[in-house]
Amino acid sequence: MSRAADALRRLIRHEGPVPVSRFMAEAMAHPEHGYYTSRTPIGSAGDFTTAPEISQMFGELIGLWMLDLWRRAGAPAPFCLVELGPGRGTLLSDALRAAGLDPAFAAAMDLHLVEINPGLRAAQGTALADYAPRWHDSLATVPPGPAIILANEFLDALPVRQFVRAATGWHERMVDVAGDDFTFRAAATPLPTGRDETTDGTCADGAIIELGPAREAIAAEIAHRIAEAGLAALVVDYGPANGMPGDSLRAVKAHREHSALADIGEADLSADVDFSALARAARAEGAAVRGPVGQGDWLRALGIEARAERLAAGAGGPAVAAAVHRLCDPGEMGTRFQVLALGAPGGPIPAGFGEPAT
Ligand SMILES: C[S@@+](CC[C@H](N)C(=O)[O-])C[C@H]1O[C@@H](n2cnc3c(N)ncnc32)[C@H](O)[C@@H]1O
Repeated sequence: MSRAADALRRLIRHEGPVPVSRFMAEAMAHPEHGYYTSRTPIGSAGDFTTAPEISQMFGELIGLWMLDLWRRAGAPAPFCLVELGPGRGTLLSDALRAAGLDPAFAAAMDLHLVEINPGLRAAQGTALADYAPRWHDSLATVPPGPAIILANEFLDALPVRQFVRAATGWHERMVDVAGDDFTFRAAATPLPTGRDETTDGTCADGAIIELGPAREAIAAEIAHRIAEAGLAALVVDYGPANGMPGDSLRAVKAHREHSALADIGEADLSADVDFSALARAARAEGAAVRGPVGQGDWLRALGIEARAERLAAGAGGPAVAAAVHRLCDPGEMGTRFQVLALGAPGGPIPAGFGEPAT
């Protein structure tokens, strides 16, 4: 058993069952033995891989997307480029190589990285050494002003609350211990006020829904900054384009899916992102919301096929084609991953999106 599991078991024995959100927060972000504070999880030797690690094309297209947006917003200088959860720094390293086509962009940019993992901070420092990044534990300490904010597979790692349907209504799902094992049980806590109308009330007994208040709070914080000071945010993650996720909490270790209650602190816990809830939270702060659109359609609109053709003219043709398939095909990441943009009211429409949703 891991130190994270031991600590959680002690916590539950003293305080009683904890909501799934607290369980996720302790397992993932505990300052000493949380998954994201004690391990370097990304890549073939880690637990999972991500779009920027699949191909340089992903970061390069985001770099050109940023450059185009910045120019059409009047090239504000200085501005903050912020990435939430930058992993190994691969996305930004590829993006800044592409955006560096215009040296004025790099000259105007102050780079800020929000990251809690010390091993990943070190990797980011190496990958992004040319850009003098500054690190933060949260967005709150990033200076105010115009910003481009990127979050690829960041929000899915933040805690969700789960609620279980019973004859008496919705009840919060808790994590308890039975002997040495962890187990789920329902508590008396009902759905928070205002959330009941987001369910259709027809779910069968035992059905599970997820709410992500911590994620919505970050979407609101980002939207507030952008609506007030300008430029945009780009959120890429997995989850349904519309509607609330069901029971999507999962653990991944060494590229295989496990029960969420096994390997606590040693497996990556995540849950689908509710894009409609993020959009609602962002609109309430005055941001212009665009999307979500499927990752495949978005990357095609940005020109991934043309970029792939040029790359494939070198040695790695089949590998480039395989990467395009993985990033864009509906059976792979193409529709499972969504892209959402939050912009300033009256600001430019970011590339790859149509008119603002009403
Ligand atoms: C799934 S990884 C994605 C990494 C990167 N964006 C990519 O696409 O390769 C999640 C990232 O968010 C960071 N992270 C997780 N929880 C965090 C938190 N509460 N605050 C700041 N960073 C966090 C992780 O350390 C990691 O860098």
